[in-house]
Amino acid sequence: MPGFEMFGEEEKQSVMDVVNTGVLFRYGFDAARKETWKAKTFEKEFAKYISSKYCLLVSSGTAALSTALAACGVGCGDEVIVPPFTFVATIEGVISAGAIPVFAEIDDTLCIDPDKLENYITEKTKGILPVHMCGSMARIDRIRQIADKHNIMLMEDACQATGAHLNGKYAGTWGIVGCFSFDSVKTITCGEGGCVVTDDENIYKRADAFHDHGHDHMGNDRGKEGHEFLGVNYRISELNAAVGLAQLAKLNRIIETQRRNHAQIASVINEFPEIRLRTVPDPSGDSCTFINFLMPDENTARKTASALAGAGADGSFYWYDNNWHYIRNWHHIKNMRTAMPAPQMHLDNMRDYTGLNLPQSDDIVSRTISMQIKLSWTQTEIEKRCDTIYNVLKGIFKS
Ligand SMILES: Cc1ncc(COP(=O)(O)O)c(C=O)c1O
Repeated sequence: MPGFEMFGEEEKQSVMDVVNTGVLFRYGFDAARKETWKAKTFEKEFAKYISSKYCLLVSSGTAALSTALAACGVGCGDEVIVPPFTFVATIEGVISAGAIPVFAEIDDTLCIDPDKLENYITEKTKGILPVHMCGSMARIDRIRQIADKHNIMLMEDACQATGAHLNGKYAGTWGIVGCFSFDSVKTITCGEGGCVVTDDENIYKRADAFHDHGHDHMGNDRGKEGHEFLGVNYRISELNAAVGLAQLAKLNRIIETQRRNHAQIASVINEFPEIRLRTVPDPSGDSCTFINFLMPDENTARKTASALAGAGADGSFYWYDNNWHYIRNWHHIKNMRTAMPAPQMHLDNMRDYTGLNLPQSDDIVSRTISMQIKLSWTQTEIEKRCDTIYNVLKGIFKS
C-alpha cells in the first residue's frame, strides 16, 4: 500500500535539489531557485497522469477537502451526502465548511450505494462527496448520473485511490473536483500533502486563492496581490513536493506491484465459496492497495479477524470495531464535540446523529475484513502469507 516502502535515492536526490537552492517556498525567489519548481512540476505531471486540466498541491488530503469545498462554494446550512465508511477527515471537511453531513448507505463496493442515494437528496443538498475506499472505486458512473439529474455537485474524495480508474477514467476526475492525500501511508507520499484536481478554471482559481490566504496569484509581485475573499494557509512546501515528485515517477510500478501481490492473495481467498471479495466495478482499474472480503456473518468475521491476527497476518483490519473509519465508533462526531467555539454553535444546530440507523452499512462493514497489500513483500513472504491465510480460513470453514 504505502509509497514509503519505495522511498529511495530518487526521493533523497529530489529533496537535495531543493536543499541546494535554499528555496523551500513554492512561490517566487525565481533567481535563487535555479529553475527548481517541485510543487509546480508535480501539479503539471499529476494533472497529466490522471487527465485533469488543473491540479493544486496542498498540505494534506484534509486541506484538499476543505479547499475543494470552499472552491465549490459549499457553506453554512448546505447538505453534503457522505458515506459512513471513510476516514473521519471527510466528515471534518464538511463540518468545518459549515455544512451538514448526510450519511448515506454504502454497498458491497464499500462506497456510497447509488441505488439508495436519491433517498438522501433534499432541497438543501449542495453536493455528493463519495469516497473511493481502500483503493477501488465507487459506482461513480451511476453516482454521476444521479448528481447530474438533480443538478448537484459531485465532489470526490479519492484520498485512498490514487491511480484507480473506472472504464479508463481516473478517480478524482468524475466530479467537479477530486481530492487526494499524499500523507505518509498513501499510495504515493509527500510525507504530508494532498491535492485538488478539476477541469473547471474558476474552481481552480478559487482553490488556488483559498489555500494561500485568498491571494489571487495574479502578476509576479507577491506582496501586491488582490483578494476576492479570505483564505487560509494550506500551502505545500517544496521539500514535501520534492518527495511527491519522485514518488509520482514510481506510481505505475507501485500499482503494478500491488496488483500482482493482490492477485496471489485473491486466489487463496477464492478457494472459499463462503467468502466474497468486495465488488470492484472495474477490476482492471483497482489500485489494489488492500484486499477486502466479506464474510458470511459478523461472528465469522470477528473470529477470522482475530485468527488472522493470532497467526501473524499483520496489516489486517476489522473496520467495524475501528474508531477512525466507521461511524459506529465516531462518538465525538455523534455527540458533536469540537475544540472550536464557533463550529460548536454550528454543531449544536446539526442533526442528531446519535440514533442514526444505517442497517445496510452495518451489515456490510461488520462482515468486512481488509488486508493491506505491501510492496516490499518478497515472493517467499507472499507465499508464506498465502499459506497462513489459507490455514486460518480452512480452520474456519473446513474443520
Ligand atoms: C478517505 C480519506 N479522506 C481524507 C483523508 C485525509 O488525508 P490526510 O491524512 O492527508 O489529511 C484520508 C487519510 O487517511 C482518507 O483516507
